[in-house]
Amino acid sequence: MRRIRVFDTTLRDGEQSPGCSMRPGEKIAVAKQLEAMRVDVIEAGFPAASKGDSEAVEAVARETRRPVVAGLARCAKKDVDECWRAVRDARRPRIHVFLATSPIHMKYKLKKTPAEVVETAAEFVRYAAGFCNDVEFSPEDATRTEPRFLYRVLEKVIDAGATTVNIPDTVGYAVPGEFGKLVKNIGENVSNIGNAAISVHCHDDLGMAVANSLAGVENGATQVECTVNGIGERAGNAALEEIAMAVWVRKAHFRACTGIRVGEIYESSRLVSACTGLAVQRNKAVVGENAFAHEAGIHQHGILCNPRTYEVIAPEKLGRTRELVIGKHSGRHAVEAELRKAGYRFDGAELEAVVEGVKAAADCGKTITAEGLFSIVEKARAAAKVL
Ligand code: KIV
Ligand code: ZN
Repeated sequence: MRRIRVFDTTLRDGEQSPGCSMRPGEKIAVAKQLEAMRVDVIEAGFPAASKGDSEAVEAVARETRRPVVAGLARCAKKDVDECWRAVRDARRPRIHVFLATSPIHMKYKLKKTPAEVVETAAEFVRYAAGFCNDVEFSPEDATRTEPRFLYRVLEKVIDAGATTVNIPDTVGYAVPGEFGKLVKNIGENVSNIGNAAISVHCHDDLGMAVANSLAGVENGATQVECTVNGIGERAGNAALEEIAMAVWVRKAHFRACTGIRVGEIYESSRLVSACTGLAVQRNKAVVGENAFAHEAGIHQHGILCNPRTYEVIAPEKLGRTRELVIGKHSGRHAVEAELRKAGYRFDGAELEAVVEGVKAAADCGKTITAEGLFSIVEKARAAAKVL
């Protein structure tokens, strides 16, 4: 089984999303929870961005022991210096250097020629490697980079000391088949790739960040960069919980595993949501409120017979519980099961009257609470007595 490393960037790319900034104490609390969940790498921030960010990275480096602690740096001496200052107290520090390689970024943003970009990338990876033996390099906007140029950049930065090369789909433009092929081609065309790990980093602008990341894993990536709840720039990053659970549930397909403790995923999601103020959408995979709620009668009946009929993840594995929501789509099996749990016993006619009462009430509102259900039972029993 291949071991896939989980590189969490909730505290860097995640925190970059509008309205998501966290206070220093919150960043430490999230970092400790990420450590408890057993992520392999925590990207704690972008030290050159602000004094506060640098201090937060430094605090995460000191207060966590197990994971690698990474900081982000542009190809500039002051960025790499500040990054090293912030991460150097970590038990396992990493400097993550990046430079854009796509034609549009090189021309309009960097105003550099391709040759200058190759030289600059190698120069700053070499500079970072002078401080730290764990250096990651990201060719920003890799998926819009001319592939042969990308291979050349990767070869040069690996020669300069990069131990991980990360392939970012910076603008969320790739589709899975194409992204998987890019990762495969990197494995086949970069002559010294055996000296570095391949990582993937996908954004969700077209809703394909997780699918693209998994296509990367299928094609040779051994590190996935992601964030809790998928928070991040614009539409966000690949969601950690979805990647971890996809690999966990489909381990035979991926022939891979991560080190994530799945029982800590829900707690991590709630903590990040509380610290950022960003609510998790109700129907979000794995961590959404509805992820284990069943309302349709046919599904509820299946779940009561065997939960695996309609669930690919047992909610208990995540420390969650399944819910049979009583509403207008529910059938007699779920209504009876819920009432039995509360100690009620019925004959068939009584149960039919209660189910009718549920449907009539649900047609006027949305869902029926436990109290609402008990009151329908009392009304049905009172009506039966009158007859
Ligand atoms: O999306 C991106 O390109 C990034 C890099 C800095 C890795 O976040
Ligand atoms: Zn990013």
